[in-house]
Amino acid sequence: MQFRFTEEQEMIRQAARDFAQNELLPGVRERDETQTFPQEIVRRMGELGFLGLMVSPEYGGGGMDTISYVLLMEELSKVDASASVIVSVQNSLVNWGIETYGTEEQKRKYLPALARGEIIGSFCLSEPEAGSDATQQRTTAVRKGDYYILNGTKNWITNAGRAGLYIVIAQTDPTMGSRGISAFIVEREWEGVIVGKKEDKLGIRGSDTHTMIFNDVKVPVKNRIGEEGFGFKFAMKTLDGGRIGIASQALGIASGAYELALQYSIQRKAFGVPIAKHQAIAAKLARMATEIEAARLLCLRAAEAKDKGKPYSLLASMAKLYASRTAMWVTTEAIQIHGGYGYVKEYHVERLFRDAKITEIYEGTSEVQRIVISRGLSRGEKVLMTA
Ligand code: CAA
Repeated sequence: MQFRFTEEQEMIRQAARDFAQNELLPGVRERDETQTFPQEIVRRMGELGFLGLMVSPEYGGGGMDTISYVLLMEELSKVDASASVIVSVQNSLVNWGIETYGTEEQKRKYLPALARGEIIGSFCLSEPEAGSDATQQRTTAVRKGDYYILNGTKNWITNAGRAGLYIVIAQTDPTMGSRGISAFIVEREWEGVIVGKKEDKLGIRGSDTHTMIFNDVKVPVKNRIGEEGFGFKFAMKTLDGGRIGIASQALGIASGAYELALQYSIQRKAFGVPIAKHQAIAAKLARMATEIEAARLLCLRAAEAKDKGKPYSLLASMAKLYASRTAMWVTTEAIQIHGGYGYVKEYHVERLFRDAKITEIYEGTSEVQRIVISRGLSRGEKVLMTA
């Protein structure tokens, strides 16, 4: 066991930290208030290689590992969780799925542009009646010769209004349950692809979340990912990696709030001394730092398992469960430490508190993570440090 980052991993961490301070921080409050998608920031993140971090160089990506991805996500999320969710969806839910299960033609056609950030991708699984119970897909893809005809509505789709392509999960055989579901790559320009209502969200307000409607969209068979019927497993495997990204986002939100609270409590004086010297505040800070370190280790552990080709589904869910609860708790405490200043927008912790909540909701709620963890444990998955 080694608790040391490689030079390359340290470099990506520093690059992300600099980018977050210099390019994300200046406009983050305004983007949150006005719900503005960070178009120029996306372009810069593409330029810096953040949007194709783990794509292999053969397809135009950075070829970096999942540990680097965790470091990148933490640093971006400390400052702007709306920008980091774009990075998370692109890397985990779109690029990874295409590179791992796509055909050579699909990889050559889509990955280079995705890796450079010239196109943004969306992952369309959730539906009005298929959230946590993802097998209940109502979107259908009916085969007609060389095409499928795709019909249905998807909810809560991150990046949807700005995306150039959508990975869409749809039912291809209603008699087969989870084995009757398939995955497709759908291009934005195709007839019948309709971007629906934009959501007015509590947090991550700079990210672009919409309903998506697919109305008699002709999807070529060659745009199916994997075999017919592989779509549910594809989605589950993709979400396993997605959970590492979201866990790291939660970790970043927590550590961002902690750093602000620490700074504030050193500067702010009460009863003649910095409030950090008062036991009540010092104890809070100690507990916050401890919870964050535990969440960080879980994120890195899941990432390491993925990088080493070991099972990581259970570890990813543990990381997400723990880190998202940590984000909610730490941001609440950070507001408390700031007192009234924490309750107003100027000091940033109010935004981080609102952003934290989504990490307990998306990519399967905290409840779903418990299902994944308990099923893994009952199957006797040997993925713990003690195994
Ligand atoms: N890896 C590989 N295969 C898996 C798997 C995994 N992690 N999880 C399940 N499977 C396989 C099972 O082995 C089983 O295969 P067989 O048919 O061959 O036996 C099949 O999938 C069905 O599995 P389950 O019976 O366990 O499935 P379930 O219906 O009980 O569901 C669940 C389990 C964990 C609750 C799952 O439904 C789940 O993760 N739900 C949450 C979905 C979610 O996160 N939605 C949000 C998506 S994000 C989005 O859409 C928008 C965005 O912008 C981000």
